[in-house]
Amino acid sequence: MTAPTSAPAAAPARTTVGIVGAGPAGLLLARLLHAAGIDCVVLESRDRAYVEQRQRAGILEQGTVDVLRESGAAERLDREGLPHDGIELRFDGRAHRIDFPALTGGRRVWVYAQTEVVKDLVALQLVDGAPLLFEAQVTGVTGADSSAPTIHYTHQGVDHTLACDYVVGCDGFHGVVREAIPVEARQTFERTYPYSWLGILADVPPSSDELVYAHSPRGFALLSMRSPTVSRLYLQVPNGTDPADWSDDRIWDELDARFALADSDWKLARGPITAKSVLPMRSSVTEPMRHGRLFLAGDAAHIVPPTGAKGLNLAAADVTVLAQAFTALHRTGSTQLLDAYSATCLNRVWRAEHFSYFMTTTLHTDPSQSPFDTRLQLSQLDRIATSPHAAAELAANYAGLPLN
Ligand code: FAD
Ligand code: DHB
Repeated sequence: MTAPTSAPAAAPARTTVGIVGAGPAGLLLARLLHAAGIDCVVLESRDRAYVEQRQRAGILEQGTVDVLRESGAAERLDREGLPHDGIELRFDGRAHRIDFPALTGGRRVWVYAQTEVVKDLVALQLVDGAPLLFEAQVTGVTGADSSAPTIHYTHQGVDHTLACDYVVGCDGFHGVVREAIPVEARQTFERTYPYSWLGILADVPPSSDELVYAHSPRGFALLSMRSPTVSRLYLQVPNGTDPADWSDDRIWDELDARFALADSDWKLARGPITAKSVLPMRSSVTEPMRHGRLFLAGDAAHIVPPTGAKGLNLAAADVTVLAQAFTALHRTGSTQLLDAYSATCLNRVWRAEHFSYFMTTTLHTDPSQSPFDTRLQLSQLDRIATSPHAAAELAANYAGLPLN
C-alpha cells in the first residue's frame, strides 16, 4: 500500500484556521489545533517527499521537545533522538565544555533532524489530522482586515479559494502571506552577514559526543550530527561560494585545520560526503506578527543566522503560543491571548535574534575584521570559559528560554 499524500483529497471551501505552509510551524500548529478541536486546513506548495527531505536544522530545545511530546508527536524522537547535555567551544587552540543541566537547572537539548520532525508530523496528520494538501500553491490572501479572510491557491492546475475565520502564514521567509499585510502596517528589521556556511552530511560516526563550535583564525567551523553514524559539519565560507569548488579532501583538510587543538593531535574521522550545500546568513524580523485576522509564525515572521540553532525552535514556540490563544478563544470566547500574540512572541524572538547574532559575530571571522576585533572575540570566549555567570547566560539561551 502506498502512503497517502493528502488527507482528504480536496480541501473544504471554508475552515476556521487556514494555515499556509507545511514546515515545522504549520504542521505543529495544525496538530495542536486539531487536538483542541479547532477546525483547520494546511496548504503546502511542495510535494510530500520534498518537504520531508529538505535538509535544515538539527537541534531541538527542551521546550520544543516538551510541546512535541504533549502533542503526541514524540514517539520516535524519544526512541531515536540524542539528548545532549552540553557543547564544546574551541578557540585559541583550546577546548571548553558548557554544561547545560548544571548551568540551567536541568535543561538540555536533543539532536533530532528537522526532516524527522516533519516526517513524524506529516504521518500523524495524514492518519488522523486536519486536511493537508500538498502541491497547493497559495497565490495570495485577501480580506486580512475583514472578518472573513480568504486564501487563494492553485491545486492540480485549478484555482481555488478557502474562506477562513483566521489565516496563519507559516510559509517561510519567501512566503506570500506577509505580503497581504499592507506595507504601511508592517516594518522589517534586517541584517546580512559577510559570510555563509558550507554544510556537509557524511556517513561517518561523529568525532565528538557533543557539538563543537570552533573559532579559528581561518574562520568558524561546527561539528554536529544527525545520528550515531551520520555527521553534519559546517565551515564558514565567503558569500557566493560554489560548493563545487570544494572537493571532499579540501573540506576535510579545512575542517581539521579549524578544529585543531594546541595540546592534542585530535583529527576528524573522515567518511563519504553525501550532501554539500551553501547557506547564506541573515537576521530579519517583521513586526507586528499579526494584522487583523492574519497571523505570521516561524520563518514567515523572522529568521536568524543558524549559529545557535534557534530557527526551528522559534517556529515551534510561536505556534505553541498561537495554539494556546486559539484554544482560549474556542473555549471561552476571549481574544485576550490572540491580541497579545505578537507582543508575546516578539519578546522571545528578539532575545533569540540577539543570541544568534552574538554567537555568529563572536565565532566567525568578518573579512574586514582587525586584530583588535579578534582580541575582543577571544576575550569574550575566555570570559564564557572562566565565568560561570557568562557560561550560564549562554547555556540558558542555547537550551531555550521558557515560553512565556
Ligand atoms: P519552513 O520550514 O520554511 O516552512 C515553510 C513552508 O511553507 C515550506 O514547506 C514551503 O514550501 C511552504 N510555502 C512557502 N510558500 C508557500 C506558498 N506560497 N504556498 C504554500 N506553501 C508555501 N535552523 C537551525 O536552527 N539550524 C540549521 O542548521 C538550519 N539550517 C537551515 C538551512 C536552510 C537552507 C534554511 C532555509 C533554514 C535553516 N534553518 C536552520 C532554519 C530552520 O530550518 C527554519 O527556521 C525552520 O524551517 C522554520 O520553520 P517554518 O515552518 O517557519 O518554515
Ligand atoms: C546544527 C545547526 C546549527 O545551526 C547549530 O547551531 C547546531 C547544529 C545542525 O544542523 O546540526
